[in-house]
Amino acid sequence: MAAAAHRYACQSCGATAPKWSGRCEACGEWNTIVEEVPREAAPKGLGRGAGRKIELVAIQQAGPEPARIVTRIGELDRVFGGGLVEGSTILVAGDPGIGKSTLLLQAAAALARDGRTCVYVSGEESAEQVRLRARRLGLGDAPVLFAAATSVRDVLATLDSSDRPDAVVVDSIQTMYVDSLDSAPGSVAQVRASAHELIRFAKRRGAVLLLVGHVTKDGQIAGPRVLEHMVDTVLYFEGERSHQFRILRAVKNRFGATDEIGVFEMTDSGLNEVPNPSALFLGERDRDASGAAVFAGVEGSRPVLVEIQALVAPSSLATPRRAVVGSDSARLAMVMAVLDARCGLALGGNDVYLNVAGGLRISEPAADLAVAAALVSSLTGTPVPANTVVFGEVGLSGEVRQVGQADMRLKEAAKLGFAKALIPRRKSSGKSAGATPLEVAEVDRLSDLVDRLGGDRGRGA
Ligand code: TYD
Ligand code: MG
Repeated sequence: MAAAAHRYACQSCGATAPKWSGRCEACGEWNTIVEEVPREAAPKGLGRGAGRKIELVAIQQAGPEPARIVTRIGELDRVFGGGLVEGSTILVAGDPGIGKSTLLLQAAAALARDGRTCVYVSGEESAEQVRLRARRLGLGDAPVLFAAATSVRDVLATLDSSDRPDAVVVDSIQTMYVDSLDSAPGSVAQVRASAHELIRFAKRRGAVLLLVGHVTKDGQIAGPRVLEHMVDTVLYFEGERSHQFRILRAVKNRFGATDEIGVFEMTDSGLNEVPNPSALFLGERDRDASGAAVFAGVEGSRPVLVEIQALVAPSSLATPRRAVVGSDSARLAMVMAVLDARCGLALGGNDVYLNVAGGLRISEPAADLAVAAALVSSLTGTPVPANTVVFGEVGLSGEVRQVGQADMRLKEAAKLGFAKALIPRRKSSGKSAGATPLEVAEVDRLSDLVDRLGGDRGRGA
């Protein structure tokens, strides 16, 4: 019995094993297995044979649409899927220092000012520190209730002894611990158990639970990916520390669209909403430079224009350098291979750098054509015509494919003063080019784009 109590858990994927080993069998990570020793007594309420009869309810009569609690911070509410849903749990993950505490304090203050009961529990900062921060953010008057605590038992006892809070912020889940486990706060077992208890509370009382989670260097929510499965919504708060832009991205949402983004700007007085991110991302653009193309993208439900920059330069290395910021290196490699094999552009001997300006991350295949345009433009020294937006997916045989929401992309471009668009050929569904407010050039094949950008020079040489 005592021997069976020992078990070993992987700190990376959460898998458990009966004995220690250097490498986790489940995820293949090295040195991540740690012993977990449960206390003698089983956790309260788990007695054998003491199961309680659960009431079964019919789904179709489960009531009206869940009520949404709005913070009135528009960028935030949209990422939540139109507001917070009672009883749901939201994980806000991000690098240390990116602004998670600031964002959630602002959200809590907004709710509290609206007459909601909001509790902010911090395991990282003292009441004095948080009070100072609130004052600096101009939120000194917001009636947010604060507690500095790390014991989940204490937190739950406190919350249960008072009226139902509308929202509870726990900053961060890595600092919380349940005393029935011996492992240290921040370990998989503790994070999982703490989150489990807190989520149970939220469901039981119908409160919104907002958990802060730190991310490790390789971009995972510290240690346990398991948290992602337990919560209703996972939001990543991203951005370059050196940029003032911050992007809140929904990667999972049971109550809204994923891939929705909210854009904020970090200022001296906290995070400000950026309702028109395209204008911001294009703000510092050099219109006549070669090696840049404006991509008309769609993030969630919203069009976003960004500049894609490329630098192609002869390499002195045996294996030329490829560096990508803000995009996917596999897609860059594919676009380069198609330019090489289908358009005769020899990029192989060059160092290639690709950058998405402004700190945004792009994952849409629709960016292929803009990436190609930036590459060709850099190679030939011909700027992509000013006031032109580009989008389209590139296929392996060199064809340019249609992408979704073309009209939305074109409309956003027109709104921002763009006059031309390079896009995939549209199906002749009677939609005339005159229907869009832009001058549209449709390209069938990647080689058409190369010809437009003076690709002959790149080819021959
Ligand atoms: P913080 O919210 O503490 O980050 P996290 O909780 O994700 O670790 O904020 C971190 C940084 O934000 C900090 O380095 C200072 C900066 N900051 C501002 O620039 N302006 C502000 O008004 C605040 C509160 C913070
Ligand atoms: Mg913090």
